[in-house]
Amino acid sequence: MTLRSFYCSLCLWLLFSFSGVIAQNTAWTAPPNADSLTSPIPLRTEDLQQGALIYKKNCAFCHGSSGKGDGMAAKALNPPPKSFHGLIEQQSDGVLFWKVTEGRAGMPSFKDKLSALERWQVVLYIRTLVQSE
Ligand code: HEC
Repeated sequence: MTLRSFYCSLCLWLLFSFSGVIAQNTAWTAPPNADSLTSPIPLRTEDLQQGALIYKKNCAFCHGSSGKGDGMAAKALNPPPKSFHGLIEQQSDGVLFWKVTEGRAGMPSFKDKLSALERWQVVLYIRTLVQSE
């Protein structure tokens, strides 16, 4: 790595950290067209099981195994993830899918990490987390 590219990465890192600081106090609103996003295939029981596995592997260490925002890494994040309970019930599947796809601040984008189907499966699963209480 040259010194120049090192400084470039440093600048990018600072930029991202500061955008995180700005983002932290505002509620996360998806663009209006996110509401109309729907899964390309009807989801079945297998998809829910798949969603559970994806959640355990990719989400639980921040969001906690029952979605209460108490995962191992949560404390290290500023802001930490909020509990899904009372937060996601009012949001459409399309909006949740959009948020998982795009990410914001401490929440990574899963656009390249999970396929679209996998993102729908995990949205289906987090719905069941908030229903179980
Ligand atoms: C590195 C930690 C981390 C991981 C991994 C992570 N998240 Fe998040 N997530 C966050 C944080 C922090 C926020 C709050 C972001 C904000 O409001 O700026 C968040 C926000 C969200 C929200 C939006 C809540 C709202 O405000 O409406 C959803 C939905 C979500 N995450 C789902 C997931 C799913 C599903 C996965 C796994 C595929 C996942 N997250 C993985 C940290 C994480």
